[in-house]
Amino acid sequence: MTNRYYLWTVGCQMNKADSEKLAAGFERMGLKATDRIERADIVVLNTCSVRQHAEDRAYSKLGRIRDLKRTKPDMKVVVMGCMVGLKTDDLEKRFPQVDVFARPQQFAPIIELIDGPAEDLGGEFWPTTYAIPEGPTAYVPVVHGCNKFCTYCIVPYRRGREKSRAMDEIVREVAYLTAQGVREVTLLGQTVEAYGHDLAEQPDLGDLMRELSALDRLERIRFLTSYPKDMTHRILSAVAELPKVMECFSLPVQAGSDAVLESMRRGYTRQEFVDKIAEVRRLMPGAGITTDIIVGYPGETEADFEATVDLLEELRFDKVHVAAYSPRPGTIAWRKMPDDVPADVKAARLHRIEEVEARIAEEINQHYVGTVQEILIEGVRKEQPFGRTRTGKLVHLDAPARIGSLVDVTIGHAGAFSLRGAVEDSLALV
Ligand code: SAH
Ligand code: SF4
Ligand code: F3S
Repeated sequence: MTNRYYLWTVGCQMNKADSEKLAAGFERMGLKATDRIERADIVVLNTCSVRQHAEDRAYSKLGRIRDLKRTKPDMKVVVMGCMVGLKTDDLEKRFPQVDVFARPQQFAPIIELIDGPAEDLGGEFWPTTYAIPEGPTAYVPVVHGCNKFCTYCIVPYRRGREKSRAMDEIVREVAYLTAQGVREVTLLGQTVEAYGHDLAEQPDLGDLMRELSALDRLERIRFLTSYPKDMTHRILSAVAELPKVMECFSLPVQAGSDAVLESMRRGYTRQEFVDKIAEVRRLMPGAGITTDIIVGYPGETEADFEATVDLLEELRFDKVHVAAYSPRPGTIAWRKMPDDVPADVKAARLHRIEEVEARIAEEINQHYVGTVQEILIEGVRKEQPFGRTRTGKLVHLDAPARIGSLVDVTIGHAGAFSLRGAVEDSLALV
């Protein structure tokens, strides 16, 4: 049996969660991790296809592996994740150095490749295997796939339709995680509010949050990614009412122009999105809200782009993830719309969004100076503990603090990307 594995992961939190699960499965089968690819008996690349750039990273890694395999012909190579579609003939032709291609959530061919136990080949979501937590925070996928088919997006083609995990199964996993020292979980879904509609009892995300809140050792619950249309008043009320659920939203808008939103098939208008944010802020003043923007979508005019800038000024997000449109083979936009915004225009628009947002984020963060914030200490970097506020702001501490503890911190300094502060409660110090 193969005994050393090298696991490389790109992409979103869902991919990270899949990798952590695979790593836990490998460890249980007696394999050991290595961060030196040339020492590995099995190499696994967990890939992302959301933009060309993400795929390019996997291609360059595969070039390196092709060379390595000439000297180590027994080394096994797996490509898993969102680069792998239903049909793999093209990939097989292009990358003969790969032994197995596995779709997201498809663990069986990987287990078979390493002669793992035939009685546990993963199955849907591999329920017998939980990730081994590395600290006080953990990701927990609750709904897989996506049904939305936004025109530009490859995710539904690679991760399939929405499929929720049973509520008791999720509660069991989170209880296990808390027994291992986890204090905060982030519930994951491409559209996390879609949770439950495909289950017999049709619970919603709020019901799941309520169940999880009853776990004593769990202090905090986060959730991503939100989809405006699925974010019902009922779910928002649960977030507002449950003390363990953080007032922190990752709510992609993608564009500020109605023409672009419609072309993207996002399913909401600018005004509907603005109203949704207003509802969030009415229920939870001061909630942290981040968003995603695509610039240079097919047909995006200067006026469309200015509408996006204007929306950022109006809504004042805590953070914006901005990306230049990248045509994805197989998607509706790729089939029907020419990629007609020149690369230099895309780059200039991207830069402009980053500039505008850096100013807004810094202004928002300045309001934190002098306030006391509850922080969960997640780890230590360069001898400084760090953690997040309830609203999702990264805070570095001036003095030592115990990892996993909840501390009150007085914010003394704020920049565009993080805050700095001192612990109020000396009992939490070590
Ligand atoms: N489910 C989430 C996010 C999915 S992908 C949502 O509904 O928004 C993460 C982000 O990647 C998206 O929010 C979008 O901003 C970006 N993205 C997706 N496809 C893209 C493409 N073809 N080109 C550029 N950015 C893209
Ligand atoms: Fe992609 Fe749209 Fe689904 Fe998000 S909601 S994963 S952008 S198809
Ligand atoms: Fe990438 Fe797949 Fe996530 S395409 S962003 S890894 S769902």
